[in-house]
Amino acid sequence: MEIFLDTANLYDISHYRDFICGVTTNPTIMAAYAADDHKNIIGQICDMVIGHVSVEVISENFNDMVREGQEMAAWNNKICIKLPCTFDGLKACRHLSANGIATNMTLCFSSAQALLAARCGAAYVSPFIGRLDDDGCDGLSLLEEISDIYDIGGYETKLLAASVRNVNHFIQSAMLGADAITIPPSILKQCFEHHLTEKGIKIFSEDFRKSIKG
Ligand code: G3P
Repeated sequence: MEIFLDTANLYDISHYRDFICGVTTNPTIMAAYAADDHKNIIGQICDMVIGHVSVEVISENFNDMVREGQEMAAWNNKICIKLPCTFDGLKACRHLSANGIATNMTLCFSSAQALLAARCGAAYVSPFIGRLDDDGCDGLSLLEEISDIYDIGGYETKLLAASVRNVNHFIQSAMLGADAITIPPSILKQCFEHHLTEKGIKIFSEDFRKSIKG
C-alpha cells in the first residue's frame, strides 16, 4: 500500500519522507500551510518526494477545471490533479486523463462515483472514510465495496483511502485491499508508537547498564 502524507507542512514532509511515496493536499490544507504562493510550495514538495503530489482544483465547471488542471500539471511532472466526483469533475477527469495528466478523484462518497472515476481513467480515487463515519455511515465498508468492484472489473484506478482519522483506518485500509492511503502527520506519528516497544527499550537498556556496573 502506497503511503501519502496529507499535508503541505514542509517540516512534516521532510520528517517522514523515508516512509512516504508522495503527498496529497486540498484547498483547506493549502490555505493552512501555503499562504498565497501555492506554486512555490508545491514545487518544494515535489522536490522532496519520489511519487505523486496531489493538488486540487477549485473551479466547479468543466472548462475551468480543465484549464486549472492543465496549468497546475505544467508546474511539475509529479503533480496529480485532484478533482471532485461531480458530473463536471468526472468529465474533466476523462479529458485530462486522455491527455496524459494523472488525476485523483476526491470527495468520493459512493461506489457509483468510484466506478465512474475508474471508467474515466482516474489514476486514483479517494473515498473519504472519516467524513463518512462522521456522517453516521461506515467509511471502511465503502472502501471494501470499491475494492471488490475494482477487482471484479479489473480497473487500473488505484484505491486511495482518504480522510483517515486513526490507526485502525490505516490497518483496515491495508486489510481491505486499498492500493494507497493518505494520512495526516499526527496519525502517521501514532503508527510508529506502541507502549510495549517503549517499555521493552527501557528494560533492555536498564538490564544492559546493570551488567556493565556488575
Ligand atoms: O485527503 C482528504 C483529506 O484531506 C480530508 O480529510 O480529515 O478533512 O476529512 P479530512
